[in-house]
Amino acid sequence: MKIYRIENNRVVLKEEERPSPGPGQVLVKMKALALNHRDYLVVNGITRWKLAEDGRVPVADGAGEVVEIGSDVEEIAVGDRVSSLIVPNWQDGAMTPAKLQGSPGGPGADGVGAEYVVFNETAVIKIPDYLSYQEAAALPCAGITAWNGIVEKSELKPGNTVLILGTGGVSLFAMQFALAMGCEVIVTSSSNEKLEKARELGAHHTINYATDMNWTDEVLRITGGEGVHHIAEVVGGAHLNKSLKCIRQDGIIAQIGAIQGICEGTVDAGEIMYNAVRIQGVEVGSKEMHRRMLQAMELHQMKPVISKIYDFNQLGEAIKFQGSGGQFGKIGVRM
Ligand SMILES: NC(=O)c1ccc[n+]([C@@H]2O[C@H](COP(=O)([O-])OP(=O)(O)OC[C@H]3O[C@@H](n4cnc5c(N)ncnc54)[C@H](OP(=O)(O)O)[C@@H]3O)[C@@H](O)[C@H]2O)c1
Repeated sequence: MKIYRIENNRVVLKEEERPSPGPGQVLVKMKALALNHRDYLVVNGITRWKLAEDGRVPVADGAGEVVEIGSDVEEIAVGDRVSSLIVPNWQDGAMTPAKLQGSPGGPGADGVGAEYVVFNETAVIKIPDYLSYQEAAALPCAGITAWNGIVEKSELKPGNTVLILGTGGVSLFAMQFALAMGCEVIVTSSSNEKLEKARELGAHHTINYATDMNWTDEVLRITGGEGVHHIAEVVGGAHLNKSLKCIRQDGIIAQIGAIQGICEGTVDAGEIMYNAVRIQGVEVGSKEMHRRMLQAMELHQMKPVISKIYDFNQLGEAIKFQGSGGQFGKIGVRM
């Protein structure tokens, strides 16, 4: 079978023997993969995503069909359509350091960039019929993070205002969930073309953060000077100060990402204190959250936004494109 491994900050396609499932494991014929910003960071060895050594299988997210099961498998059967999970050890309950270990496609475990992948049966989730393999593959990392940041760790009510920063994978899921909750959504982007597409998907207000240097004032104008109730903060570092200008008193900033590669920055603690703002860290989500997300998505027949799909043999190119920020929503990979 074909399998990618990371060597010298590149993904290298190899031919290896197809693996067999052991007790409690299932073999999945992968049908589609989807990329995240972190796949770019892992392959390029950036920040905490740097690998200790070469040889890791890349890519966190994928979906496929179960073609073989090992002994003692109870809940998954041959023929099931499943996707991977971003933190398979976090099945339910509160997050712990141990539950976050073993996330695929990163320093802790091999990813899904192969034609066949063996998973523990608890490390996959069945996907609803209305989603294609490609659509289901888009959900494990970006979908669950947006769901956690907008639904599980928020106090949003219909009619509340939500600020979505940029139009990458996490951001567009966050926009879709906020819209489904009946919120008024403001989307920022560096591209007018992407903003137009965001409006087509239901965004109520759009702002070009690259051409409008005073875009935080525009957020305040739209919200009658009060600021938004909730922000999906994917940019990170000192950008938090800009989000602090846009949040209303008692609002929540869901701190999700560090897309500019910065986790550090000087933050105005006074703004947080005087305005009683809550900074809510968000780290992916559990399998139970994933189940709740799938239920809600099916109810709303919600589909991930996938702007570009590469062939499996173009994975290196696809990962490079992920790093460019050119995408609108997700980048898919067909097997
Ligand atoms: N905490 C967690 O568990 C978790 C999980 C998933 C992802 N993340 C993090 O969340 C971030 C987003 O991940 P992703 O996979 O969605 O990334 P992505 O798809 O690569 O997002 C790229 C987009 O980010 C936007 N962007 C860049 N700089 C911006 C700025 N200054 N202001 C507003 N938008 C900006 C751009 O949107 P435009 O082109 O529209 O300008 C760009 O297209 C990353 O830092 C990732 O590591 C964290």
